Amino acid sequence: MIHIKQSESVSEAPARRQKAEMVKVSTNGDFIPLKWNWAETWFTVQKLFGENIKDIYDFEVKQDDVFITTFPKSGTTWIQEATWLLLNNLDYDEAKKVHLWQRSVYMDISLLYDTFFHNSIDAARQLKSPRCIKTHLPAHLLPRQIWQKKVKLIYCARNPKDVVLSYSHFLRSKGAYEGSMQDFIDDFLSDETTYTPYWPHVHTMWLMRSEPNVFFTTFEEMKRDLRGVAMRLNTFLGQPDLTEAQMEKLLDHLSFKNMKENEQVNPTNLIKRNSTRSNTQADFEFMRRGIVGAYKDELSADNQQRINDWTERYLKEFNITLADIFGDL
Ligand code: A3P
Repeated sequence: MIHIKQSESVSEAPARRQKAEMVKVSTNGDFIPLKWNWAETWFTVQKLFGENIKDIYDFEVKQDDVFITTFPKSGTTWIQEATWLLLNNLDYDEAKKVHLWQRSVYMDISLLYDTFFHNSIDAARQLKSPRCIKTHLPAHLLPRQIWQKKVKLIYCARNPKDVVLSYSHFLRSKGAYEGSMQDFIDDFLSDETTYTPYWPHVHTMWLMRSEPNVFFTTFEEMKRDLRGVAMRLNTFLGQPDLTEAQMEKLLDHLSFKNMKENEQVNPTNLIKRNSTRSNTQADFEFMRRGIVGAYKDELSADNQQRINDWTERYLKEFNITLADIFGDL
């Protein structure tokens, strides 16, 4: 069952800055193995999203589908390219010809922008199997058949300070958020930007990291040990072991430099071309620095402290630390 709180549940200023009416949605979380108060775990999305979420929740899932879900700006594109390649016998010819957005559709995107050029749920439906589908939805808003049929679900998390920074740069330079970085941080911390609240999104999937159909990693783990993550992912996907040469080639393909230069995975120009009605800035970059800890030199000490306190308030209740999820930052 889907629950929707009307637009008044998101304050007027954050909604105006996001240039859309916003609503809060939740579901009963049917079939999710984790016991959690799902119905009261409200996520902020555009009104258009709320109106159409049923199309995602009821999406017909195939047994060999692979879903990738993340909080935005957590390394989605990175794990997505790795997953698509491993799932498709390292088909670099196809990967160099067809944009990742077509090979592995972002199924919720047309619910964010009424100007989006196609119906992304239909596009996801039409992918050739095994379908590799990206979303940014939390566990209880995903197609519920993922849980029912126990199909493969990949989750990549990233520490909140780098996420806030990356998300703020992304939306503001894309022209999808009209406000300062300070406004964005305030709206993010009060759970009023798209796909927030951050913590339940990450934490519930971390709690389910040992479910047989769940693969959990972090941006930080990929930076520390991409080889290890790729090996674990390959096993999770049920693919034959990689030779050393195949692994070396994959790691090289997935390096930040090569991904940033690769037009088929870095959507910077694609977004600039398609943003006819938004005012994407000339210096918009989908992939900025690709490091752990950019927040150390880009967020003020005060903002870092606020995010630390907000994190601690949430995690303390569950008796876990940031390091339990991300390792040392
Ligand atoms: P920054 O904005 O910090 O540079 P998503 O794909 O979820 O939107 O995440 C985008 C973030 O992942 C960006 O972070 C981007 O640079 C980073 N990223 C993408 N590919 C990467 C790679 N191969 N290595 C390191 N970071 C990468």
